[in-house]
Amino acid sequence: MIQRLKKWLVGYQSAPGTDDEKWIPRLQEGPIPKHVAIIMDGNGRWAKKRGMPRVAGHRAGMKSVRNVTRAADDLGEIEALTLYSFSTENWKRPKDEVNFLMSLPEEFIRTDLDELVERNIQVRMLGNKEGLPAHTLEAIGKFEEATADNTGMILNFAMNYGSRFEIIEATRRIIDEVKSGKLDRDDVDENVFNEFLLTATLPEPDLMIRTSGEVRISNFMLWQLAYSELWFTDVHWPDFGREKFFEAIQDFQRRSRRYGAV
Ligand code: IPE
Ligand code: IPE
Ligand code: MG
Repeated sequence: MIQRLKKWLVGYQSAPGTDDEKWIPRLQEGPIPKHVAIIMDGNGRWAKKRGMPRVAGHRAGMKSVRNVTRAADDLGEIEALTLYSFSTENWKRPKDEVNFLMSLPEEFIRTDLDELVERNIQVRMLGNKEGLPAHTLEAIGKFEEATADNTGMILNFAMNYGSRFEIIEATRRIIDEVKSGKLDRDDVDENVFNEFLLTATLPEPDLMIRTSGEVRISNFMLWQLAYSELWFTDVHWPDFGREKFFEAIQDFQRRSRRYGAV
């Protein structure tokens, strides 16, 4: 009886390991996306379904941030993971909800910074720093500083990010450079334009995932997604975990990317 119980316990404890044995070596045989970008959607609906306030969904969504970051890092070859955390349009939400979202980076420092440092992950922010409250910026700054020398996966939080804003900013800066004679108008091509975007130092997303059933882009990386593979799931973000992430990667590996050729 004790033997049986012990065996069951060992089996139970190693369950995540067994799962990884199934997924990771198999996925590593195929192409791994260099950059995965995720529109984390459905926190509010997840909470509503449970009779809870929307912010409870955002808190629950942090667990998924942790699980997906771990899964992406464990795969070993993903260079960047970008998580759409707050859009330039999300200011339209009730003040209390916005305040709660703006407090999450501070909470994330308390709960996750140590592990991210241990994993050699570099945390960055993508978006307009103007308009973010000082305490949020401070937390983001702490993250960036504490992980600046890390050389592993880049974990990018798209915060106060809007792709149209990003494109307009890039255009303005290009105009300034052309006006001041630093840049020749005829040299402005796709590569040059790319250098003026917030994502300049990142590879283009190979895979874009959106959770919670909505099949739209919502002002996310309009330029960068030109040739990304898109993957949608009905699962709400708080229920999106390691297994679903691996499923998306598996699906990505079955796609035939042609970039307009045959
Ligand atoms: C995604 O969940 C999180 C953010 C946009 C910050 P939502 O809050 O959009 O959840 P739904 O779409 O209302 O369910
Ligand atoms: C997109 O989700 C923004 C983020 C996930 C941060 P939204 O919930 O804001 O998008 P819409 O309003 O449904 O298009
Ligand atoms: Mg939403």
